[in-house]
Amino acid sequence: MNTIYLDNAATSFPKPEAVAQAMVRYLTEVGAPLNRSVYRNAQETELVTLSLREQLKGFFHFPEKATHVILTPGNTYGLNLIIKGYLRPGDHVIVSSMEHNAVMRPLLQLPEVSFDRVRADAEGFIDPHDIHALIRPNTRLILMAHGSNVAGSVQDAEAVGAIAAQYGIPFVLDGAQTAGHFPLDFERFHLSALSVPGHKGLLGPSGIGALLLTDEMARQLSPLIAGGTGSASDSELLPEYLPDRFESGTMNLPGIYGWEAAMAYVSEVGMDSLRAHELLLMRRFINGIRDIPRVRLCGPKGLEHRVGVFSLDFVDQDNAAVSFALEQRFGILIRCGLHCAPAAHRSLGTFPRGTVRFSLGYANTEADVDAAIAAIGALA
Ligand SMILES: Cc1ncc(COP(=O)(O)O)c(C=O)c1O
Repeated sequence: MNTIYLDNAATSFPKPEAVAQAMVRYLTEVGAPLNRSVYRNAQETELVTLSLREQLKGFFHFPEKATHVILTPGNTYGLNLIIKGYLRPGDHVIVSSMEHNAVMRPLLQLPEVSFDRVRADAEGFIDPHDIHALIRPNTRLILMAHGSNVAGSVQDAEAVGAIAAQYGIPFVLDGAQTAGHFPLDFERFHLSALSVPGHKGLLGPSGIGALLLTDEMARQLSPLIAGGTGSASDSELLPEYLPDRFESGTMNLPGIYGWEAAMAYVSEVGMDSLRAHELLLMRRFINGIRDIPRVRLCGPKGLEHRVGVFSLDFVDQDNAAVSFALEQRFGILIRCGLHCAPAAHRSLGTFPRGTVRFSLGYANTEADVDAAIAAIGALA
């Protein structure tokens, strides 16, 4: 039986062919370190890494220099760096009730930092105006997921950014579910930082991500780890300059090569085409499941403010058994459960049952969506 991959919110698959090719080329032909040596292949690693930073800068309309695109071991790391490197005892943070544990768990590791959640409605949307009432004199950060990995709802980041700017509070966005799926504009959203994973909508490998930082935010951020940077080796102190200050240790070069190739692909296809394709598939999916009885779509019914992440509740069945059957009987690969975001399920009314999550990617076709709809209908 052929399989149909609909788990792109977890990680995108398949990757463009150029991604694996670039990684293999690094491992078999290049093999040099970054920022350490100066022979020809080592210079190449510098150029490929710079190209990755420049592409990310362009893709997200990032106004700072490419030096402020910090390459991280992943999105979770970038979010931890902001939470643990920027917040101080006594600070207050505003998050949404749709956050992933990549935000909530590090936040809860800081007992001297308090937070409030802006409550999302049953479709997974916050009302940005609710933020006003939560702001306190010690509020130092507004941090939220742009797109929900449970509901697919996309928050109005521009409105949140405008409110943050009005109070002079830094606004940091978790772009895990929107980067490569939904237009994301660092300047227009008034961001102080944006964290993205390489392996989801940006089609790169796992184990790498980026944290785009304004200079202002970078100055207030303490590095989580320290070590060799290949620079300023006359000192035992971390350099002050970026990106070195936040990139200690040997970098993930296979990941950099793979992600650089992925970004070239994503940039060539363009955000508009990626979005248009996802809109086509989303419309088909929503229309296809709308009239299936005993299946509830837990998230936005409209298309404009959402990405292709669909949580379904098979109301009179065990959602885990449905998920098992989807793979066993139909070869459809999805994710079931709470998706690392328990509070989001409380907002959607699906805690602790969880949901069956279908998530679309650039490589999915209308036929994939039709097969999923048929399987959902048969199982319902
Ligand atoms: C909204 C959201 N934030 C953060 C993360 C964590 O990203 P990663 O696991 O790539 O570090 C995810 C992963 O699914 C996510 O969906």
